Amino acid sequence: MRAGGGFDPPFRFADLRRDNGDAHAGLRAGLLAAQAAIPAKYFYDALGSRLFAAICCLPEYPLTRSEARLFAERGDEIAAAAGRGRLLIDLGAGDCGKAERLFPLLAPAGYIALDISADFLREALGGLCRRFPELPVTGVALDFMRGLNFPEDLLAPAQAPRLWFYPGSSIGNFAPEEARAFLSRIAHAGGALLIGVDLVKDKAALEAAYDDALGVTAAFNLNVLRHVNRLLPADFDVADWRHVAFFDAAASRIEMHLEARRNLEVRLAGQPRRFAAGERIHTEDSYKWTPDGFAALLEQAGFARPRIWQDDGGGFALFLAGPA
Ligand code: AVI
Repeated sequence: MRAGGGFDPPFRFADLRRDNGDAHAGLRAGLLAAQAAIPAKYFYDALGSRLFAAICCLPEYPLTRSEARLFAERGDEIAAAAGRGRLLIDLGAGDCGKAERLFPLLAPAGYIALDISADFLREALGGLCRRFPELPVTGVALDFMRGLNFPEDLLAPAQAPRLWFYPGSSIGNFAPEEARAFLSRIAHAGGALLIGVDLVKDKAALEAAYDDALGVTAAFNLNVLRHVNRLLPADFDVADWRHVAFFDAAASRIEMHLEARRNLEVRLAGQPRRFAAGERIHTEDSYKWTPDGFAALLEQAGFARPRIWQDDGGGFALFLAGPA
């Protein structure tokens, strides 16, 4: 029990998010730029996170199911290659569900969950610790896209070899050069990496995954405007905007945009910004890799040649890369 009367949670927790004064300066600058853009991290307010969970259930968006099937069908092999008794470090842990499903296979020596959303993470870790009372657990609230700097003493047990876990093809939301830099930070921190990556496939299938028949992805994209309205504040009307998604084969990426349906003016933190009909706000890139291309990226980042497990359709792959 703590001095104040509350109970200490059965896990360590560090909030390392930096308050840089004007947290949304980049968001405002992006919207005022000639080619307007909103960083993809702003999708994930409470409703956005639920809409993303709904996207993962859509028949057009097989990524999440392909990854789960690979773990279900090849998990023993993957765990044998990764090794048991590792310190499992979960990048973007969310509800910790993906990592938790691996616990029986990996028998981790400890679990470190990193996520930008402190409250959500604390709640998830509370439940996890009730189910795994013997496991040393640490939560770290951190915007790890900006760096992986956290005190070494959080990495407990310190002697256990590290296994970094980055599922869900979140790496696809980085441009290749940013992805390489991010992966080299992990390689530099030491240990192996288990990462899920969506692969290049048929253009029509890719475009349907980002523009589904029910309009869930459209709602996910448009919802970012409501989030921005609350944050800046701004006065976007979602009815003035349309969801646009297409695959740029040359760049090997899906691009998502919001397109103005008419000439309009929006107030952004008190500043006016005109948009002409047809003008777009760029909201997300989702890069698709070939197995060889991503293996080469891992090697450039400082890892050894990875092992690769692909799903039956060849649309998704798990890569396990150790130190070079
Ligand atoms: C989180 N990320 C891997 C998803 C993706 O596929 O790029 C986000 C997403 N955007 C639209 N649909 C899903």
